[in-house]
Amino acid sequence: MADRVKHIAPFHVMALLARARAMEADGRDIVHMEIGEPDFPTPEPIVRAGQQALAGGATHYTPALGLPELRRAISGHYRDCYGLKVPWQRIVVTPGGSGALLLATAVLVQSGDEVILPDPGYPCNRHFVRLFDGVPVNVALTAQTGFQFDLPALQRSWRDSAVALMLASPSNPTGTLIAPDVLGQLIEFVEARGARAIVDEIYHGLVYGADAVSALSFSDNTFVLNSFSKYFGMTGWRLGWMVVPEPYLDAVERVAQNIFLAPSTPAQYAALAAFSAQTREILEERRRIFAERRDFLVPALRDLGFDIPVTPSGAFYIYADCSKFTRDSFQFCEDILEKTGVVITPGADFSVADPKRYVRFAYTTDKQRLEEAVARLRAYGLS
Ligand SMILES: Cc1ncc(COP(=O)(O)O)c(C=O)c1O
Repeated sequence: MADRVKHIAPFHVMALLARARAMEADGRDIVHMEIGEPDFPTPEPIVRAGQQALAGGATHYTPALGLPELRRAISGHYRDCYGLKVPWQRIVVTPGGSGALLLATAVLVQSGDEVILPDPGYPCNRHFVRLFDGVPVNVALTAQTGFQFDLPALQRSWRDSAVALMLASPSNPTGTLIAPDVLGQLIEFVEARGARAIVDEIYHGLVYGADAVSALSFSDNTFVLNSFSKYFGMTGWRLGWMVVPEPYLDAVERVAQNIFLAPSTPAQYAALAAFSAQTREILEERRRIFAERRDFLVPALRDLGFDIPVTPSGAFYIYADCSKFTRDSFQFCEDILEKTGVVITPGADFSVADPKRYVRFAYTTDKQRLEEAVARLRAYGLS
């Protein structure tokens, strides 16, 4: 067994989920607030396009970097939604945003290289770095900066041996965004040092209030990834993309050829329908529903006594400080599950620095179920 796998941690929430499943099998009603994917099915026009592709025999490999039509359609998405000109040749279609993260770390990280990461953050990122024998440097960030890097935090934590900075805006687990001017400053800082920023925009589209600004507005030398999973509601299709800086394209293509051969063909044909006006209408309605859920849940949790220091502006997560109730958020999640049948994710899945203080609520279930969860938590004695 290779040593590196010792560093790959399981998701702590899986233990809670296993218990929840057992309780469900015993007839208990469980409210799932741990799930990091939309509860809505894939929009019908996308499903139909996928079915038609399959019926028409689209079951062979595509080019490793994806169908040129889809790469062009994604370029059109940057033009229409961000007013940006992104050459389609720089867009690489990948097996989920996860495939994009794998490719980015594969071409950037050598043995012993350091990669700077926000803590709290998406846990898989540090494991991608480990897979290439790099060294993840988790930088503890606070509510003052919305749990995101600002320039002083990056200046304080930067090391000359760092080759990359990984960011996500909106972030999982906090749902917070990096302000556009700050994002520009961070990218400039990193690139001035010959390193690269990897910016995860997978929750773009699920932003409430203002629209998010893409890192591509600031630099052509940044790796920017996105996915059809979250906003487009296609988690199970396993499809994402990455905009790659030109000098790395050939390397990314060679790695993609060797490790994936190609992204899923039916999924790519289905995704061609993701940018249609009809699909957009469905997705925008869902965005409105997510915003409504957030607007209900944030004040309701605060009322119960959770400290939510920054109101999330995107994704479908709320990162809540539960130190008023417990010194150990994992035990707290276990106890809540046992006594109320509500599943939430412990902070240990997202933070190395402060794993016991927070929990993550996902509002990926309908408003009635969210109301039910809040009622159960109140009855449990939280307020
Ligand atoms: C921040 C972030 N990046 C990437 C991913 C990977 O998603 P996918 O591979 O489904 O695109 C996730 C999934 O939860 C995520 O939260």
